Amino acid sequence: MIMVENGFNNELIGNAGVRKYMDNDFDDFVQELQEQIYEETRKAYGMLAFERWLNPLYMGTMDDPDGYARVTGTCGDTIEMFLKFEDERVREALYQTDGCGSSHVCGSFAAEMALGKSPDELIDITGEAILKKLGGLPKEDGHCAFLSAETLQEALSDYMIKERGNRKS
Ligand code: FES
Repeated sequence: MIMVENGFNNELIGNAGVRKYMDNDFDDFVQELQEQIYEETRKAYGMLAFERWLNPLYMGTMDDPDGYARVTGTCGDTIEMFLKFEDERVREALYQTDGCGSSHVCGSFAAEMALGKSPDELIDITGEAILKKLGGLPKEDGHCAFLSAETLQEALSDYMIKERGNRKS
């Protein structure tokens, strides 16, 4: 038997009790740490980006997209963008990245902003437009928005080139 100070009173507990006591302590520590990280992330990135970071919508890949691009930024991260068109408008848009949390958030918003847009309207989805939608990002993460927008524009170019080819044949 071991005497353990449990915060309320001293208790005699067995080895299994000690393990449980330590596990609970560790769980509390991990939870506190996670809450602290969430709080700091919310503060630095804003609620919209924070929620999207927790739930990165439009993440995935697509077989046989109408427009596709894969761009690696100077930071070394790669973003992919997949577009499917119907009646000259984006019916489905997905992104994939091996990058940071901000690249997920920006890729996800680039895909969301592309939905329902015509090629002319897609041109307006710039890095600035993504940053504006997010209400800004910390300065060091701004380039993630530009990389996402660039990848989207490359995917649009891919679609336009294929379309031109289809019209000729
Ligand atoms: Fe490279 Fe975010 S740090 S895309």
